[in-house]
Amino acid sequence: MSTTAVLVAAGTGERLGRGVPKAFVELAGVPLLVHAARALLAAAAVDDVVVVTGDADRARAADLLGAAGLPALAVCAGGSTRTDSVRLGLDACPAGTTVVAVHDAARPLVTPALIDRTVAALGDPWAAVAPGLPIVDTLKLVDPAGGVLRTVDRAGLWAVQTPQVFARATLVAAHASPAPAVTDDLALVEARGGRVRLVPGERRNLKVTYPEDLDLAEALLGRGAVPR
Ligand code: CTP
Ligand code: MG
Repeated sequence: MSTTAVLVAAGTGERLGRGVPKAFVELAGVPLLVHAARALLAAAAVDDVVVVTGDADRARAADLLGAAGLPALAVCAGGSTRTDSVRLGLDACPAGTTVVAVHDAARPLVTPALIDRTVAALGDPWAAVAPGLPIVDTLKLVDPAGGVLRTVDRAGLWAVQTPQVFARATLVAAHASPAPAVTDDLALVEARGGRVRLVPGERRNLKVTYPEDLDLAEALLGRGAVPR
């Protein structure tokens, strides 16, 4: 068994609005992609990491990872959607890879412990495993004008995080079939009837999407909540 993490970092970061790809934005002086790569490499369950960036950013990513003292990692070009970027990262995994953990560079505070726990949970009958957390907000279905159509029962609803972990063959097959627009890889496996399991995630494993998320991540890091 050899586990490769595919670190997707090829998004443009429109919602963060920094004018540079989000993975290169710094959190406490360190680019998001370096934070995430460090955690993946520190996880006992991960043998290798493939980093996926925009084509024009590959050399810069390699330089930043090298400057951070991380071992030379494969850096490949991503695509125009997250799904395309994952598929391209999958193509670049080393030949001996049997398990793939897909992680968003936008989640820089993931911990090695969470990564290890998630990888360890993969096994019969589960085709895929990911961390998640029960939704805490009240949910409303709303029309385009903001009118509330109804309240959605949140019992049993979880928000999903990464890393998302699969047998390599499962993820390759999932990416080979045409699928409607999806925002994660679990959905591709679900669409093919695969059984997917969520394990408890961590609040600190937040996704940096909007500027406030970066402030929150910085506060968590500063508080020493995340071992590094
Ligand atoms: N991602 C990717 N390739 C894409 C789009 C997204 O590798 N074509 C990656 C991002 O780099 C990020 C993760 O997928 O690590 C989750 O995506 P998201 O948070 O949406 O990041 P962005 O697409 O960069 O942000 P935005 O949607 O605000 O532009
Ligand atoms: Mg996006």
